[in-house]
Amino acid sequence: MKISVIGAGYVGLVTGGCLAGLGHEVVCTDSDAEKLKTLESGRLPIYEPGLDVVIAHARKEGRLSFRANGAETVQFGDAIFICVGTPPLPNGSADLSAIDHVARLVATEARTPKLVIEKSTVPAQTGQELKRALAVYGRKSGVAFRVASNPEFLREGTAVEDFLHPDRIVVGVEDEVAEKQLKEIYRPVLERTFTCPVHSGKCPDVPLPAWLVTTINSAELIKHASNSFLAVKISYANMVADLAEKLGADIEEVVRAVGMDPRIGRSFFHAGIGFGGFCLPKDLQAFVHLAEKSGVDFSMLKEAENINKRRINRFMEKIRRALWVVKGKQIGVLGLAFKPNTDDIRFAPAIDLIHELLKEGAIVRAYDPEAMEKAQPVLPQIQFGKSAYEAAEGAEALLIATEWEQFRKLDWERVRDSMVRPLILDGRNLLSAKQMKGHGFEYYSMGRPD
Ligand code: UDX
Repeated sequence: MKISVIGAGYVGLVTGGCLAGLGHEVVCTDSDAEKLKTLESGRLPIYEPGLDVVIAHARKEGRLSFRANGAETVQFGDAIFICVGTPPLPNGSADLSAIDHVARLVATEARTPKLVIEKSTVPAQTGQELKRALAVYGRKSGVAFRVASNPEFLREGTAVEDFLHPDRIVVGVEDEVAEKQLKEIYRPVLERTFTCPVHSGKCPDVPLPAWLVTTINSAELIKHASNSFLAVKISYANMVADLAEKLGADIEEVVRAVGMDPRIGRSFFHAGIGFGGFCLPKDLQAFVHLAEKSGVDFSMLKEAENINKRRINRFMEKIRRALWVVKGKQIGVLGLAFKPNTDDIRFAPAIDLIHELLKEGAIVRAYDPEAMEKAQPVLPQIQFGKSAYEAAEGAEALLIATEWEQFRKLDWERVRDSMVRPLILDGRNLLSAKQMKGHGFEYYSMGRPD
């Protein structure tokens, strides 16, 4: 199929790249001309494992191109994926002005019937507004539009994998034609007939995805309800961690056993300094706002958000207790990204943590395998190490703020010998207390006995 993708951010690039990888012809546009130039030159504006391979391959095969001209992009596809940003407004609700802008562009530039698919995370009932906007702006053209919702469940760091091997594909539609078109788009994923661009051409042995057809309103709600549930689950683990600390229990032992109940599940059940990123915190806020607007007091979600906001304070308390005085102390921070395998620092707990440390007068040297370039402009006051070892050198405490796998495998004796005081505060429970003590460290973590 011929497909247009509007928005070349995380969601748009993964969607466009993977759809082209499935054999469709894709044209992608963005309002940011610089970003398009970067993409045209063969570079990626983001770090996302496997995406470079997918995009380079699709471009080489001539199935993916980037175009600055929005009108041409709209005219190209029979289906148009809207992948623009929906950032939070000061009141927590989602800013939908980019969606409105796209609706105007599509309605005025389309010359043939289009299936317009919302992929961006939007509050329930946005699909209805989108339909109305397309009808209003396109009333003179007489072009027919169908609207569908196809929420993404892409995790940064494994987005390509999630797109090609999802556990479910949700399509919110209003008629069979839209459903059929979407099925055609996703057929290679549903039947797994594509050549896997990652995993050296061989797909992992995971079940085929479920195909779920719902109303547009339900599809929009499914996305919000999924992300908010994950946020609640993490905050729950964090509260149990606080209690475990008081009672002398070990949160890792607790969540492991609790999560073995298949009704609960072990994933997304890890305590630490909280969840971040551009999706979970923002979607949680937008969901609270949507509930309030609909006359439903979803206080449980507000509490999940409050618990998350308090995580950095909890960690700071530990740092103060261990260091006695924070002012003037050199502190090493390992990790800046909001989670491993990404360079994304948006709403990253690590960044909030460093701001708190700076407020208290600490001297910070940080290291992250991928996120330093993005962190430099927002943290001009700190030093950046070329390696984890450099971040630790001369420090009186080393903090773990993002659970990069490579931090687990450091030469800890080298780290210990280079520090002024061998003290580790592990905000992600990445390391084993026993092993770190064995290496001669004083070691504190979250919800585990000190
Ligand atoms: C999320 C959703 O998972 C994805 O389905 C959706 O489409 C987009 O939003 P992402 O933003 O990539 O994906 O991040 P995610 O993997 O969900 O992690 C969010 C945060 O939660 C990270 O800061 C992570 O460190 C934290 N986290 C995760 C925990 O603190 N504990 C956990 O058990 C799991």
